Amino acid sequence: MNTSSKCTVLVVDDEPSICWGFERLLGEQGHHVLTASSAEEGLQTAADNQIDLLVLDVRLPGEDGISALPRFRREIGDAPVVVMTAFGDLDTAVAAIHGGASEYLTKPFKLEEASRVCQAMLVQAERAKQLDVEASPIDSPGDAAVLVGRSPSMQQVFRKIALVADSDLSVLITGETGTGKELVAAAIHRHSRRRESSYASAGAFLDTRQVVESELFCHVKGAFTGAAETRKGLFELADGGTVLLDEIGDLPMATQVKLLRVIEQGEFTAVGDVRPRKCDVRVIAATNRDLKTGVQERTFREDLLYRLSAVAIDLPPLRERRDDIPLLCEYFLRRLGYARATDAIPAELMQQLQERSWFGNVRELRNAVEHASVMARGRRFELGDFPSPQQRNRAGDQSQGGTLDHLVEQWTQEQLKQSGGESITDLHDRLTNATEPALLRVVLEFTGGNRAAAAQVLGMHRGTLRERLKRYEADSAQQD
Ligand SMILES: Nc1ncnc2c1ncn2[C@@H]1O[C@H](COP(=O)(O)OP(=O)(O)OP(=O)(O)O)[C@@H](O)[C@H]1O
Ligand SMILES: [Mg+2]
Repeated sequence: MNTSSKCTVLVVDDEPSICWGFERLLGEQGHHVLTASSAEEGLQTAADNQIDLLVLDVRLPGEDGISALPRFRREIGDAPVVVMTAFGDLDTAVAAIHGGASEYLTKPFKLEEASRVCQAMLVQAERAKQLDVEASPIDSPGDAAVLVGRSPSMQQVFRKIALVADSDLSVLITGETGTGKELVAAAIHRHSRRRESSYASAGAFLDTRQVVESELFCHVKGAFTGAAETRKGLFELADGGTVLLDEIGDLPMATQVKLLRVIEQGEFTAVGDVRPRKCDVRVIAATNRDLKTGVQERTFREDLLYRLSAVAIDLPPLRERRDDIPLLCEYFLRRLGYARATDAIPAELMQQLQERSWFGNVRELRNAVEHASVMARGRRFELGDFPSPQQRNRAGDQSQGGTLDHLVEQWTQEQLKQSGGESITDLHDRLTNATEPALLRVVLEFTGGNRAAAAQVLGMHRGTLRERLKRYEADSAQQD
């Protein structure tokens, strides 16, 4: 990745070491680096020179970088802008992107990372001579739920939110339970031009299709038994605003067609009605499942998945961004009234918390911190104050961790690991032996112990069932 020509880069930062770093790095690559220590000085330099790339700090003495950005833009034309933020907070990132920045770097950053970003920007600028991006600064958003995270993967998420918020594209948010999908959906709404309009969400589409559809699209009086009154549906309530469909994977197939029509044509028909109604909503969907599997299993429509994932945001599990754990603890502790995290959690304990798997992700961490603060009653926390770690296959857990597919995956990995390199030749039988007893037991309970009926439900020959039951009985007798 190299630019053919020599470029002029303007770095505006009051920290001399940062300016020096850029001078050295970009200078080595043959670029000409100009520096300024304030917005005013930078604007003057930009007026006097032809700038190919602007690297701008947000925190500057005097006017800050973001508010000066529109004036820089007038001086530098279409040249890309990389904004440096001291904290990886979403609001600054959004303001920067809306103000016309092309990229942002979160301090502290490695110079190689900065160099890579700058180089990519220059290459892009040279190649495309940059498209004219219409951008207007937005007001500072309120103090609604904060998304905390400084890890590179969360920064990537923030960047995506900032980039897509203002469009009307559908967004699909995926991630394990407790990773913050609802927070992200709300953040997208909050940063969009629909933010003054309503935001509504619905989930748990496990009811009958009629009930689900009347919740989403409303029903007319007498549409079905129990449909006494005409009631407004979600899409009417959120007209002009944003709708979050949570756990979209559970949506009945037939309802999925209706949803597709809302997204593509902005219209739907109420249950029991024939007249189509217009609505203007942005659809955000969330799920902790892999919808591609749903498509394979024919429980999820491929065209809908395609439509929803116009923009896909995948939230990383907490155990893959352990660096965020101290930061999140600090955030939750502050909300509980602690001045500093270290007052409550000594370094060694923090280390232990960082090593946990947190299968319940940020939600589990928040609950654990709240639990510990109650147990500790003002003294420093100890490991024993924290609840025991959430298991991956917790009953009723709707996350990936709870799905059959995932359990089998885990079980298989476990078996392979335990084999310690010895060859296994009966894994399929082992899986059957491990799962069949539960299957047979539940079906037999269901048929009130009637084996003939159970065999029918199972689609199994009666003789086979008898033989299996005998085998498992013998097995469990042996174990006892
Ligand atoms: N990055 C984050 N910063 C601060 N709080 C967070 C973050 N991510 C999640 N949380 C908190 O964790 C909890 C769970 O978040 P949320 O409800 O958005 O998860 P979810 O992904 O929708 O989970 P589920 O799939 O179980 O519905 C909330 O209390 C939320 O405030
Ligand atoms: Mg959720």
